[in-house]
Amino acid sequence: MKFFIDTANLSHIKEAADLGILDGVTTNPSLMAKEGIKGNDNILRHYAEICSIVDGDVSAEVLSTDFDSMVAEGKTLAAIHPNIVVKVPMIKDGIKAIKWFADNGIRTNCTLVFSAGQAILAAKAGASYVSPFIGRIDDSNWDGIELIAQIAHIYNVQGFETEILAASIRNPLHIVRSAEAGAHVCTCPLASILGMLKHPLTDLGLAQFLEDAKKM
Ligand code: E4P
Repeated sequence: MKFFIDTANLSHIKEAADLGILDGVTTNPSLMAKEGIKGNDNILRHYAEICSIVDGDVSAEVLSTDFDSMVAEGKTLAAIHPNIVVKVPMIKDGIKAIKWFADNGIRTNCTLVFSAGQAILAAKAGASYVSPFIGRIDDSNWDGIELIAQIAHIYNVQGFETEILAASIRNPLHIVRSAEAGAHVCTCPLASILGMLKHPLTDLGLAQFLEDAKKM
Protein backbone atom coordinates (compact mmCIF):
# COMPACT_ATOMS: atom_id res chain seq x y z
CA MET A 1 0.00 0.00 0.00
CA LYS A 2 1.21 3.48 -0.87
CA PHE A 3 1.44 6.19 1.81
CA PHE A 4 0.41 9.74 0.96
CA ILE A 5 0.37 12.62 3.42
CA ASP A 6 -2.84 14.64 3.59
CA THR A 7 -1.65 18.19 4.16
CA ALA A 8 -0.42 21.39 2.51
CA ASN A 9 1.99 22.02 5.40
CA LEU A 10 5.53 21.97 4.00
CA SER A 11 7.26 21.04 7.25
CA HIS A 12 4.90 18.09 7.78
CA ILE A 13 5.55 17.01 4.18
CA LYS A 14 9.34 17.27 4.71
CA GLU A 15 9.15 15.33 7.99
CA ALA A 16 7.17 12.50 6.37
CA ALA A 17 9.44 12.50 3.30
CA ASP A 18 12.49 12.21 5.60
CA LEU A 19 11.10 8.92 6.90
CA GLY A 20 11.69 7.54 3.41
CA ILE A 21 8.26 5.93 3.15
CA LEU A 22 6.27 8.73 1.53
CA ASP A 23 4.76 8.05 -1.89
CA GLY A 24 2.76 11.23 -2.46
CA VAL A 25 0.65 14.10 -1.14
CA THR A 26 -3.02 15.04 -1.19
CA THR A 27 -4.28 18.55 -0.55
CA ASN A 28 -7.69 20.16 -0.63
CA PRO A 29 -8.94 23.77 -0.48
CA SER A 30 -9.43 23.56 3.32
CA LEU A 31 -5.86 22.33 3.84
CA MET A 32 -4.46 25.04 1.52
CA ALA A 33 -6.48 27.76 3.32
CA LYS A 34 -5.20 26.45 6.68
CA GLU A 35 -1.64 27.21 5.50
CA GLY A 36 -2.71 30.72 4.44
CA ILE A 37 -2.10 30.08 0.71
CA LYS A 38 -4.07 32.75 -1.19
CA GLY A 39 -4.21 33.89 -4.81
CA ASN A 40 -3.74 31.88 -7.99
CA ASP A 41 0.03 32.45 -8.36
CA ASN A 42 0.74 31.49 -4.75
CA ILE A 43 -1.43 28.39 -5.07
CA LEU A 44 0.42 27.22 -8.19
CA ARG A 45 3.79 28.03 -6.58
CA HIS A 46 2.84 26.05 -3.46
CA TYR A 47 2.00 22.95 -5.53
CA ALA A 48 5.32 23.32 -7.37
CA GLU A 49 7.13 23.50 -4.03
CA ILE A 50 5.39 20.34 -2.79
CA CYS A 51 6.41 18.57 -6.02
CA SER A 52 10.02 19.60 -5.40
CA ILE A 53 9.96 17.92 -1.95
CA VAL A 54 8.18 14.67 -2.81
CA ASP A 55 8.93 12.39 -5.73
CA GLY A 56 5.38 11.05 -6.09
CA ASP A 57 1.83 11.96 -6.99
CA VAL A 58 0.54 15.28 -5.66
CA SER A 59 -3.23 15.86 -5.77
CA ALA A 60 -4.24 19.45 -6.56
CA GLU A 61 -7.95 20.21 -6.43
CA VAL A 62 -9.95 22.22 -8.96
CA LEU A 63 -12.01 25.00 -7.41
CA SER A 64 -14.73 25.29 -10.04
CA THR A 65 -17.76 23.07 -10.47
CA ASP A 66 -18.69 23.36 -14.16
CA PHE A 67 -17.14 21.19 -16.89
CA ASP A 68 -15.42 23.92 -18.96
CA SER A 69 -13.84 25.65 -15.97
CA MET A 70 -12.75 22.35 -14.40
CA VAL A 71 -11.03 21.34 -17.65
CA ALA A 72 -9.30 24.73 -17.93
CA GLU A 73 -8.19 24.65 -14.29
CA GLY A 74 -7.07 21.02 -14.51
CA LYS A 75 -4.91 21.78 -17.57
CA THR A 76 -3.18 24.60 -15.67
CA LEU A 77 -2.63 22.40 -12.61
CA ALA A 78 -1.33 19.46 -14.67
CA ALA A 79 1.14 21.77 -16.41
CA ILE A 80 2.87 22.56 -13.08
CA HIS A 81 4.63 19.18 -12.85
CA PRO A 82 4.23 15.65 -14.28
CA ASN A 83 3.41 14.35 -10.77
CA ILE A 84 0.32 16.54 -10.39
CA VAL A 85 -2.93 14.59 -10.22
CA VAL A 86 -6.01 16.75 -10.76
CA LYS A 87 -8.49 16.33 -7.92
CA VAL A 88 -12.09 16.55 -9.11
CA PRO A 89 -15.26 16.45 -6.97
CA MET A 90 -17.80 13.65 -7.40
CA ILE A 91 -20.47 15.66 -9.19
CA LYS A 92 -22.06 15.32 -12.65
CA ASP A 93 -19.71 17.77 -14.38
CA GLY A 94 -16.84 16.26 -12.38
CA ILE A 95 -17.48 12.85 -13.96
CA LYS A 96 -17.53 14.47 -17.42
CA ALA A 97 -14.29 16.26 -16.62
CA ILE A 98 -12.62 13.06 -15.33
CA LYS A 99 -13.52 11.35 -18.63
CA TRP A 100 -12.10 14.30 -20.57
CA PHE A 101 -8.89 14.26 -18.52
CA ALA A 102 -8.54 10.47 -18.97
CA ASP A 103 -8.96 10.83 -22.74
CA ASN A 104 -6.32 13.57 -22.77
CA GLY A 105 -3.66 11.87 -20.65
CA ILE A 106 -4.23 13.84 -17.43
CA ARG A 107 -4.47 11.79 -14.25
CA THR A 108 -7.27 12.44 -11.74
CA ASN A 109 -8.32 11.80 -8.17
CA CYS A 110 -12.10 11.71 -7.76
CA THR A 111 -12.76 13.20 -4.33
CA LEU A 112 -15.68 13.36 -1.88
CA VAL A 113 -16.73 9.76 -2.51
CA PHE A 114 -19.14 8.28 0.03
CA SER A 115 -20.77 5.32 -1.76
CA ALA A 116 -19.95 2.33 -3.94
CA GLY A 117 -22.15 3.73 -6.73
CA GLN A 118 -20.05 6.90 -6.83
CA ALA A 119 -16.88 4.78 -6.89
CA ILE A 120 -18.21 2.80 -9.89
CA LEU A 121 -18.96 6.03 -11.80
CA ALA A 122 -15.47 7.40 -11.06
CA ALA A 123 -13.84 4.19 -12.30
CA LYS A 124 -16.03 4.12 -15.44
CA ALA A 125 -14.97 7.70 -16.22
CA GLY A 126 -11.33 6.65 -15.95
CA ALA A 127 -10.25 8.22 -12.64
CA SER A 128 -6.71 7.27 -11.63
CA TYR A 129 -7.70 7.38 -7.95
CA VAL A 130 -10.99 7.34 -6.09
CA SER A 131 -11.09 8.87 -2.60
CA PRO A 132 -13.63 7.44 -0.16
CA PHE A 133 -13.68 9.65 2.97
CA ILE A 134 -13.70 7.00 5.67
CA GLY A 135 -13.40 9.28 8.73
CA ARG A 136 -16.32 11.43 7.64
CA ILE A 137 -18.38 8.27 7.00
CA ASP A 138 -17.58 7.00 10.50
CA ASP A 139 -18.47 10.44 11.88
CA SER A 140 -21.93 10.09 10.32
CA ASN A 141 -22.50 6.72 11.98
CA TRP A 142 -21.72 4.50 8.96
CA ASP A 143 -18.71 2.22 8.46
CA GLY A 144 -15.99 3.77 6.29
CA ILE A 145 -13.82 0.65 6.24
CA GLU A 146 -16.76 -1.43 5.04
CA LEU A 147 -17.03 0.94 2.06
CA ILE A 148 -13.33 0.45 1.24
CA ALA A 149 -13.84 -3.34 1.28
CA GLN A 150 -16.96 -3.06 -0.91
CA ILE A 151 -15.21 -0.89 -3.50
CA ALA A 152 -12.15 -3.17 -3.47
CA HIS A 153 -14.40 -6.15 -4.14
CA ILE A 154 -16.27 -4.43 -6.99
CA TYR A 155 -13.09 -3.13 -8.66
CA ASN A 156 -11.54 -6.58 -8.38
CA VAL A 157 -14.57 -8.41 -9.82
CA GLN A 158 -15.00 -5.85 -12.61
CA GLY A 159 -11.32 -5.40 -13.41
CA PHE A 160 -11.33 -1.62 -12.85
CA GLU A 161 -7.84 -0.14 -12.71
CA THR A 162 -8.72 2.91 -10.58
CA GLU A 163 -6.73 2.90 -7.33
CA ILE A 164 -8.61 3.15 -4.04
CA LEU A 165 -7.20 6.01 -1.99
CA ALA A 166 -8.50 5.82 1.58
CA ALA A 167 -8.98 9.44 2.68
CA SER A 168 -10.20 11.30 5.76
CA ILE A 169 -8.00 9.13 7.95
CA ARG A 170 -8.35 9.96 11.63
CA ASN A 171 -6.03 7.48 13.38
CA PRO A 172 -3.43 4.71 12.87
CA LEU A 173 -6.08 1.98 13.08
CA HIS A 174 -7.85 3.50 10.06
CA ILE A 175 -4.59 2.96 8.13
CA VAL A 176 -4.22 -0.65 9.23
CA ARG A 177 -7.87 -1.46 8.52
CA SER A 178 -7.74 0.28 5.11
CA ALA A 179 -4.73 -1.85 4.19
CA GLU A 180 -6.62 -4.95 5.30
CA ALA A 181 -9.73 -3.95 3.33
CA GLY A 182 -7.82 -3.54 0.06
CA ALA A 183 -7.00 0.18 -0.24
CA HIS A 184 -4.12 0.78 -2.67
CA VAL A 185 -3.22 4.08 -0.97
CA CYS A 186 -3.84 5.74 2.38
CA THR A 187 -3.61 9.50 2.69
CA CYS A 188 -3.00 10.45 6.29
CA PRO A 189 -2.18 13.38 8.53
CA LEU A 190 1.40 13.26 9.88
CA ALA A 191 0.09 12.41 13.39
CA SER A 192 -1.57 9.21 12.14
CA ILE A 193 1.58 8.09 10.30
CA LEU A 194 3.74 8.75 13.38
CA GLY A 195 1.08 7.12 15.57
CA MET A 196 1.77 3.82 13.82
CA LEU A 197 5.25 3.80 15.39
CA LYS A 198 3.92 3.69 18.91
CA HIS A 199 3.63 0.68 21.21
CA PRO A 200 4.32 0.79 24.96
CA LEU A 201 5.97 -2.65 24.86
CA THR A 202 8.44 -1.34 22.25
CA ASP A 203 9.37 1.54 24.60
CA LEU A 204 9.65 -0.74 27.65
CA GLY A 205 11.61 -3.36 25.71
CA LEU A 206 14.05 -0.79 24.33
CA ALA A 207 14.58 0.78 27.78
CA GLN A 208 15.41 -2.67 29.17
CA PHE A 209 17.79 -3.49 26.30
CA LEU A 210 19.61 -0.18 26.76
CA GLU A 211 19.87 -0.79 30.52
CA ASP A 212 21.22 -4.32 29.96
CA ALA A 213 23.62 -3.05 27.30
CA LYS A 214 25.47 -1.17 30.08
CA LYS A 215 26.32 -4.59 31.60
CA MET A 216 27.77 -5.92 28.36
C1 E4P B 1 -8.62 13.74 0.91
O1 E4P B 1 -7.91 13.82 -0.06
C2 E4P B 1 -9.04 14.84 1.76
O2 E4P B 1 -8.10 15.89 1.60
C3 E4P B 1 -9.04 14.53 3.22
O3 E4P B 1 -8.61 13.22 3.49
C4 E4P B 1 -10.25 14.95 3.96
O4 E4P B 1 -10.08 14.61 5.32
P1 E4P B 1 -10.93 15.27 6.49
O5 E4P B 1 -12.23 14.56 6.57
O6 E4P B 1 -10.09 15.02 7.71
O7 E4P B 1 -11.08 16.72 6.17
